[in-house]
Amino acid sequence: MTPEPALFTIQPAGLLDLNDLRRLESLCFEADAWPVLDLMGVLTLPGIVRLKAVIAGRMVGFAAGDKRDPLGIGWITTLGVDPAYRRQGVGRGLLEACEEQVGLPRVRLTLRRSNLEAYRLYQAAGYSRYEVWPQYYSGGEDGIVMQKVLGEAKNSQIG
Ligand SMILES: CC(C)(COP(=O)(O)OP(=O)(O)OC[C@H]1O[C@@H](n2cnc3c(N)ncnc32)[C@H](O)[C@@H]1OP(=O)(O)O)[C@@H](O)C(=O)NCCC(=O)NCCS
Repeated sequence: MTPEPALFTIQPAGLLDLNDLRRLESLCFEADAWPVLDLMGVLTLPGIVRLKAVIAGRMVGFAAGDKRDPLGIGWITTLGVDPAYRRQGVGRGLLEACEEQVGLPRVRLTLRRSNLEAYRLYQAAGYSRYEVWPQYYSGGEDGIVMQKVLGEAKNSQIG
């Protein structure tokens, strides 16, 4: 049965969230979890959007977006939701908020070819397959790059 939508808030994240983010990262990504230095970077570097989803004071999801690309393409660099809070709209909410704060007309992201849950989320959110990065992930799995065109530049979209 699909659970009721969760009542969550989306808030800016910062370095004080490091421990919660480490916990979430290992719950969500296992072998792909970022090392602690990368997590510190995503929580502090300029040009990065960092957002957490919070329920009852607890971080249940995290997303980051990078708006530093010289070509003006925003990248959603990570999105994860605590398994206990999935299928309640948290991932979609974080993704939309991140896109909005990145504020660029094109946004891209990558995911493992086998990650059908994420693929469905991104497809439902308006992303389409853009290109394949062969053997991008550890273990040799391909990365699928997906793109969403927001705003005026829709003609340049590659399906
Ligand atoms: C992918 C992930 C972020 C989705 O988070 P979530 O909070 O469960 O997503 P939502 O509840 O907002 O789902 C939104 C839509 O995505 C699709 N979706 C999400 N999870 C799905 C699943 N397990 N099966 C099928 N569709 C799914 C559905 O269309 C869903 O809408 P619906 O519930 O109304 O049918 C979460 O599963 C996760 O953290 N996975 C591990 C980390 C990861 O793979 N991150 C992405 C890598 S780039």
